[in-house]
Amino acid sequence: MKKIAFITGATSGFGKAAAHRFAQEGWSLVLSGRRIKRLLDLKETLSVPVHVMQLDVRDADAVKQAVDSLPDEFSAVTALVNNAGLALAPQGAPEVELSDWHTMIDTNVTGLVNVTHALLPTLIKTGAGATIINVGSIAGQWPYPGSHVYGASKAFVKQFSYNLRCDLQGTGVRVTDLSPGIAETEFTLVRTKGDQSASDNLYQGTTPLSAEDIAEQMFYIASLPDHININRVEVMPTRQAWSPFAIDRD
Ligand SMILES: NC(=O)c1ccc[n+]([C@@H]2O[C@H](COP(=O)([O-])OP(=O)(O)OC[C@H]3O[C@@H](n4cnc5c(N)ncnc54)[C@H](OP(=O)(O)O)[C@@H]3O)[C@@H](O)[C@H]2O)c1
Repeated sequence: MKKIAFITGATSGFGKAAAHRFAQEGWSLVLSGRRIKRLLDLKETLSVPVHVMQLDVRDADAVKQAVDSLPDEFSAVTALVNNAGLALAPQGAPEVELSDWHTMIDTNVTGLVNVTHALLPTLIKTGAGATIINVGSIAGQWPYPGSHVYGASKAFVKQFSYNLRCDLQGTGVRVTDLSPGIAETEFTLVRTKGDQSASDNLYQGTTPLSAEDIAEQMFYIASLPDHININRVEVMPTRQAWSPFAIDRD
């Protein structure tokens, strides 16, 4: 049976790498993001059927319309990779613009539920072997300074994934919270609003995860035998671990 992956945030990073990984195994692809030019360029590099959509996941009506108007060839989605997301404002909470908090909630929480809600009927129809991969983060599990709403939005992703599993029991649809640690993509460039040197410094002198490392996890999760559901994958580079608790002293 033909397999179709619906990947959000395919213009960059994990989503783009996932497009290549699933295409390598012959999956058809529905690729979305706001930067349509990047999607069209990506499509040119792939040798499988690809449908691209300029889509802002924050816009529930646009998401519903895009899903409802999928061409027949792409409508029987097998795997939803809910990857679109972002962190903003690496500074501490008291210094953050409220609008940055709103943007993270609107994208990582509202956007993710918009896409999930629109595709649930399709995934349930696909049944056994259908998969939802929600991209969370280690920030959803572990606190650190400057994580404030970003980490909280990813904690939502984790709990939403677990809760979805309960409600999808009996449908055959699997749900995974895939939570990466530090990975080199455009993520930090976005977080620092274009500060290339801050991004370079973060990844310098260590070995972060690559977008391809995460794409490999995505493909593995979606291609397991139908009876296996991975609930959560937390993956860090070997060179990343936790720090001691911070203690305020006189
Ligand atoms: N890199 C890391 O260290 C890391 C670690 C843990 C988790 N994550 C998570 O992994 C996911 C992918 O991030 P990445 O590292 O691959 O970063 P990235 O290279 O910046 O890619 C983010 C993707 O999300 C899309 N996106 C952002 N806002 C969107 C919106 N409103 N509507 C539609 N698409 C939107 C972007 O596309 P457009 O801008 O073209 O719309 C882009 O394709 C995110 O959910 C992120 O939180 C990243």
